[in-house]
Amino acid sequence: MTELWMDAPTAEPERQYYFMEQARKYVEAKAKELGRDLTFCVTTFGCQMNARDSEKLVGVLEKIGYKEETVEEQADFVIYNTCTVRENANMRVYGRLGQLGHIKKSHPHMMIGLCGCMMQEPEVVEKLKKSYRFVDLIFGTHNIYKFAELLATRFASERMVIDIWKDTDKIVEDLPSERKFPFKSGVNIMFGCNNFCSYCIVPYVRGRERSREPKAIIREIERLVADGVVEIMLLGQNVNSYGKNLEEPITFAQLLEEIEKIEGLERIRFMTSHPKDLSDELIEVMKHSKKVCRHLHLPVQSGSTNILEKMNRRYTKEQYLMLAKKIKEAVPDISLTTDIIVGFPGESEEDFLETMDVVRQVRYDSAFTFIYSKRTGTPAAVMEEQVPEAVIKDRFDRLLKEVQEISAEECKKQEGSIQKALVETVNDHDASLVTGRLSNNLLVHFPGDSSLIGKLVNVKLEECKGFYYLGSKVDSAKTE
Ligand code: 5AD
Ligand code: SF4
Repeated sequence: MTELWMDAPTAEPERQYYFMEQARKYVEAKAKELGRDLTFCVTTFGCQMNARDSEKLVGVLEKIGYKEETVEEQADFVIYNTCTVRENANMRVYGRLGQLGHIKKSHPHMMIGLCGCMMQEPEVVEKLKKSYRFVDLIFGTHNIYKFAELLATRFASERMVIDIWKDTDKIVEDLPSERKFPFKSGVNIMFGCNNFCSYCIVPYVRGRERSREPKAIIREIERLVADGVVEIMLLGQNVNSYGKNLEEPITFAQLLEEIEKIEGLERIRFMTSHPKDLSDELIEVMKHSKKVCRHLHLPVQSGSTNILEKMNRRYTKEQYLMLAKKIKEAVPDISLTTDIIVGFPGESEEDFLETMDVVRQVRYDSAFTFIYSKRTGTPAAVMEEQVPEAVIKDRFDRLLKEVQEISAEECKKQEGSIQKALVETVNDHDASLVTGRLSNNLLVHFPGDSSLIGKLVNVKLEECKGFYYLGSKVDSAKTE
């Protein structure tokens, strides 16, 4: 075991490649012993950021010789990349972990790993140490780049390995990753969040905001494009404050302009935008861009200025409405989507009606609605006047109904138009159809086969089905 460490380079990413090589030897020997390949299964909870992190885990696992297995119970190495943004995400992890513990009893060689946001909470790790002793490897969000090293440590030690960092300012570039889709990819542009919205646990589990160097981002995208990617999603908790803390500061809008120049790249998406930081410069860039998609996710959280203040969102209802209006005027075909929390402490019926009013005024193309979930350690968790469950449920149902009616009406407006769709999959339910994503992020199903996957095609949106379309492919000659 000490030998393993003595020869390890100290610089990254070389150190991790060294450990991948060590781990590969272990996996190879084990496979020989068993007379078959070793397999892994990565399960992702939560947001797009986690989905991208999971691709990095898969990249390492494949590099060291594991093969993917979709049936979790049959895999030799199972890892959960967890989320803790709401309490029910944690409950799901504990539930599934309990079941996995039973399976491990009859499959003693199975290894179980846990990582992601939930592991950054000390109470969680305590609970795992006490009641889930069968877990093999636990690490957090800040040291995911060390996955290979931690795996090699576990292989060498035969004991539970736990490594959680409180925070980091480190960004390690050029590690392997394995994309879920050959034609599209997430690209991290920044990590962490400095906003401290009072309900949100993200700043505590993802740490302080740090931006990647533009050069590293561009290089990654160029490589992805060379490898067949046509659409990218730039990822950050608050992309509008990208670049502020770099040695040579650059704005998010400037970064977008640089990315736009990459030849072969067709579509650029990004997520998430905080309304308080959305600049006129960004609106200008979106207006003139040929590649930035006609979609903006602009979480409002609440329509009540009073609640927004308690949430520490740092904008008022009026400021948000003005911003939404400005964007729609500049980019008329834009699709606006949002996140809304119902039942934040102290939310009165009047406050809730303000939220309903914003929904009616902005007319979102879609909205994610959440019931407020108390996260220990956040300022809101100790606020008085937590709203009774029955009241929240009633408001949630009313909100959902309104949101769905409006988004169906908005969706209907596009019926009959011809738009470009990037074909993503053969339809799950009907193999004669393929599913494509429009610039505005809505899906369209239309007749076609797997040869269209990864291609941008013109589709006539024949029929609106509420939040998706049925369509038909149109010859590009007819639309030019
Ligand atoms: N309770 C409910 N929803 C939350 N979100 C973040 N924290 C909480 C919480 N404690 C929602 C916000 C955010 C989205 C990703 O999750 O709406 O935009
Ligand atoms: Fe959480 Fe607010 Fe940061 Fe979003 S901006 S991750 S809601 S603290």
